[in-house]
Formats: sequence, C-alpha cells, structure tokens
Amino acid sequence: MCGIVGYIGKRDAAPLLLEGLQRLEYRGYDSAGIAIHSSGTGKNAGLKTAKAKGRVRELESRLPKRFAGGTGIAHTRWATHGAPSDENAHPHLDAEGTVAVVHNGIVDNAAELRAKLTADGVTFVSETDTEVISHLVGRAQGATLEEKVREAVAVIEGTYGIAVLHADFPDRIVVARNGSPVLLGIGEHEMLVASDVAALVSHTRQVVTLDDGEMATLKADDYRTYTTEGSRTSATPETVEWAAESYDMGGHDTFMHKEIAEQADAVDRVLRGRIDDRFATVRLGGLNMDAREARAVRRVKILGCGSAYHAGLIGAQLIEELARIPADAEPASEFRYRNAVVDPDTLYIAVSQSGETYDTLAAVQELKRKGARVLGVVNVVGSAIARETDGGVYVHAGPEVCVVSTKCFTNTAVAFALLALHLGRIRDLSVADGKRVIEGLRKLPAQIAEIVANEDRIAALAADYAQAKSMMFVGRVRGYPVALEASLKLKEISYIHAEAYPASELKHGPLALIEPAVPTVAIVPDDDLVDKNRATLEEIKARSGRILAVAHTEQEKADHTVVVPRNEPELDPILMGIPLQLLAYHTALALGRDIDKPRNLAKSVTVE
Ligand code: AGP
Repeated sequence: MCGIVGYIGKRDAAPLLLEGLQRLEYRGYDSAGIAIHSSGTGKNAGLKTAKAKGRVRELESRLPKRFAGGTGIAHTRWATHGAPSDENAHPHLDAEGTVAVVHNGIVDNAAELRAKLTADGVTFVSETDTEVISHLVGRAQGATLEEKVREAVAVIEGTYGIAVLHADFPDRIVVARNGSPVLLGIGEHEMLVASDVAALVSHTRQVVTLDDGEMATLKADDYRTYTTEGSRTSATPETVEWAAESYDMGGHDTFMHKEIAEQADAVDRVLRGRIDDRFATVRLGGLNMDAREARAVRRVKILGCGSAYHAGLIGAQLIEELARIPADAEPASEFRYRNAVVDPDTLYIAVSQSGETYDTLAAVQELKRKGARVLGVVNVVGSAIARETDGGVYVHAGPEVCVVSTKCFTNTAVAFALLALHLGRIRDLSVADGKRVIEGLRKLPAQIAEIVANEDRIAALAADYAQAKSMMFVGRVRGYPVALEASLKLKEISYIHAEAYPASELKHGPLALIEPAVPTVAIVPDDDLVDKNRATLEEIKARSGRILAVAHTEQEKADHTVVVPRNEPELDPILMGIPLQLLAYHTALALGRDIDKPRNLAKSVTVE
C-alpha cells in the first residue's frame, strides 16, 4: 500500500525522507518520489522533485546533486490509477510547478474533475487521480496554503491522506486526512508526517493521529490541527509503545522469519496482565461492555479480510465452544456489500492487524450507521478501526512488518481465546473449565517455542514440496481454519497454487485433483474427530496422493508427520498452524521468492 513521509525542521530533509520511505517499503509499492523546498537561490530556489519507477534505491540514485532543503515530502506508490511509471509516481505538481502533492487513497470523482480541469486548459502529465489534487490546490483562490488545500479537498469525493508543499509557503507542510491514515511526529524543532508509525519512531514517539475530516499545518517549531471547515481541533500527542528497533530485522534474514520466531514472546504479551486466576477468567479492560451487556449478546458475527478472517473463524469456534453463543465469521469485503440484516442482539467483531483495511473499516462504518455494537480485535493501537469501534481487544503482537501475517494471526487467535473465556465465564463455563483453558493458555508460549525450534526438519520437508504444481490443505472443524490460513500463507509467498477444504468435502469433488504431483497437508489433531481425519488420509493414499500431516502423533498413512505438542482441544488450532508458517517460509525460500514483499501484495489494503 502507498506510503507518505514528510519532514520540516533544521535537518536536511532528503536523507530523512528516503530513510522513512525505506521503513515503509514493507507495505508494498511499485514506484517512489520526493519533493523538497530547495534551500538554493535564484533558479535553484523553489520546489525540486525526483521520481522513479521501482525501489527506493532507484529513486535515491536519481536525486540531483543539489537537492538540499529542510522541508520535504515523499511517497511510495502502489498503483491504482495508471501503471507504475516515473510519470505516475508521486509527488504530483500543478501546471506552474509551485504545488507538490503526495496522496494515499482514491479520488472517486477524479474523471469528472479531470474533465473540468482539462476543459479549463489544464494539461495533465500523468494517468493518476492524484494529479487532480495538485491542480486544484494550484488553482485555488485562497490566500493561505491552508485555505487552498481546504478548497481542493472540498470538491474531492473518495478517500485521501495527503501532504502538500507550496513554493510560496516554504515554512510549512499542510496535510489532510479522510479515510487514509495520516500521523504527525512531534519532534524537537522538527515535525514529521507519515501514513504509518514505522516511519516516525526512529525520530520521535510522540504521535498525533488525525481523524477523518481533519487537517494540520506543520512548521519546524509548531503544529496545529483543524477540521476541513477550518475550526481548530485539539490534538494531544500519544506516546507510541513500539520502539524503532521493533522495525529492524534483528539478525534474521527476513522480517517473516523474525516474526515467526518471536511468536512465543508475542503470545506472552497478549496474555500479560489479563488472566484472573481468582475467578478462572480474564480481564479485558477495553471491551466497554459490562457483564449484563455481555450476557444480553445472542450471537456473534466476526468480520475481517484474509488472515484476519481466518483468525476470526478460529475465534468463532472458540466462542461457540467456550461461551455457547452462536458465532460465525465472514469476509468483511463480502459483508459490506450484501446489505446484511443487522441484529441489535448480535455483537459484531472487526478483526484487523493494521486497523486500516478499507473493506473492514467500511463494514464497521456500515454497522455503526445501523446502530450495531462493534468491537475491534486489532494490533495497531489508535488505528482507524480501533478508533471507530465501541471497544475491543488489542492483540499486542508488536509491529508486523512482513506483508504476510504470522505473529499477529497467532496473537489474534489467542485474543479470541481470551474473549471466549471471558464470555464463557460470564455464562455457564465452569470454574474447572476456566482453569483448564487458562492452564492451556499459559503453556502456549513454551509450546510455540518448541515448534519453532523444530524449524530445520520443516525446512527439509519444504524442499521436498517446493516443486509441487499445486497443494491441497484439509482439516475438519477446528482444523479447517488452520488449513485455510496455511493455504493462504503458501500462496502468498511461494506463488504455488493451493486450496483448502473441509476434509469431509474432499469426496464431493476435490478428490479428483489428488495425484502424486498434488500433495496434501492434513491437520489431524488428537480430538474427537481423529478417526474421521485418519479415514481422510486413507482416501488420499488410495489415490496415490502424498500426505504431510500436522498431528499430535505420527500418522502411519502420512508420508511425513510434523508432530506438535498437545494443548487443550479448543486451543490446538493455535499451535497446529505454526509449523505451516515455516513450511510456507522455507518453500518460498527454496524457490527464491521475495518473502517480505511478495509480488502484487501490500501489507495493508487501505483502498477498495
Ligand atoms: C495475510 O498474510 C495477508 N497479508 C492479508 O490477508 C491480511 O491478513 C489482510 O489484508 C487483512 O489485513 P489486516 O489484518 O491489516 O486488516
């Protein structure tokens, strides 16, 4: 997804902006650009820009010799309107080259505005929707840059996070937010702006998060926030808990490897301070829902996209098993478009690592508009979904930089176990069962560490499967979400086609695909369905299918078994997915894939 960085202060802006863009590379992009207020005089005065298709290092190689100045903005672009190219890279300028704009989001009425501006004699030099904004600001009648930007955003429909420079106002950057994150970094005699806290924390941990419809003016020694109508707002900085080193690879070859390895510690964090041994339950301070309100819940609907949706499936099972409340999960991207019947007795839960996924945010906004109670199970504190919901549970996975989700998926599943235990103990879950689940939760970190320590064996297996033309993943009930998530992991980073099915569904068609070239990964926990799952292994073997089983004991019908430690049956899905993260990782490694930045993908999809 696109990234924005801006700086104004006493230091030279360009190196800081490039470093900021590199911090945002994990979000996925295909071109980059930068604009500064040159500190030069005469023909070297005014705005200077450089843009390049490809990586930030390509942009760095293109910077002109004289590219100095203490005020600048920069951008990494994930193409939506117009192919990746130098011309389509941001920043975009107005006709006179006095305005530079970087933009995240989509201008829904770009075609209409473009036609009007073209009819007025404006010549466009790019295919982007963003260039419309730079011309609108450049042609605005307002006397100040703030007024010019307000005039421009007043006619824009759609989503934006923008940062604007103007040659006539070298002492400021003006930013605006509507549906796409804009964060201010408050420094000592310097201010920063970014679309992701990752670009700020190496300079400051004092961060102001703009709300939709909010703007800000950044000067070296001051910042002011106000609405797009111009009325002042009070924006108090919050201290970001994630330190800069959280965004470093910490000696690992990839962020994905680091984030898989740190899951034991991450799960420790999501449990920390939340277990109440006295009543065999948990304390979730952020729910904003008392016991009476929790008892009134008649069903739970969980919404998320991708891995967040898969974690929601695990959450739904946990809530049904522990709290005996009907629960299900649905892709947020489907829910938001199907005019769902919103039930006042249903508790809705939005799941999101970034807290900025547009489809999930839009589903939340639709639910809020219809009066629903919505909780968030989110990783990024203060993110749009976290702020839009009525309360929730932070998953405390720490920054997840790799595009594919691993530690946050695991922490989200654990967060749902906590929520299910909380709801269960408000209802009929016994003290004994509450204690049983708590003991299981407490064992998770050590068991995760044990699985991760088995990496070399999984790496050896991965080499064996890397040549598969396609792979099947199957699981029953608790195993099915594990199969779905493992299938997505493999697809995302190895580019091998993979499908996941409920194991019972194989015989209703997909069994036709089974052959030696299409191996199957089977989730076979020692639970009440183990005999059924073993029968599925027989079905596959009878058709010469190769099998990798993830189980608690060796499976004689499988070609290989990865044995994982046993926990409580309800919590087993949390452990059974971990070796399959490593399987996907090592398969992709064997194939030489770009593991942290897989093709076509972005870390947070903040557009539709
Ligand atoms: C997970 O590996 C993917 N990167 C993707 O499915 C992701 O889970 C999805 O885009 C939702 O993102 P979110 O959790 O930030 O909302």
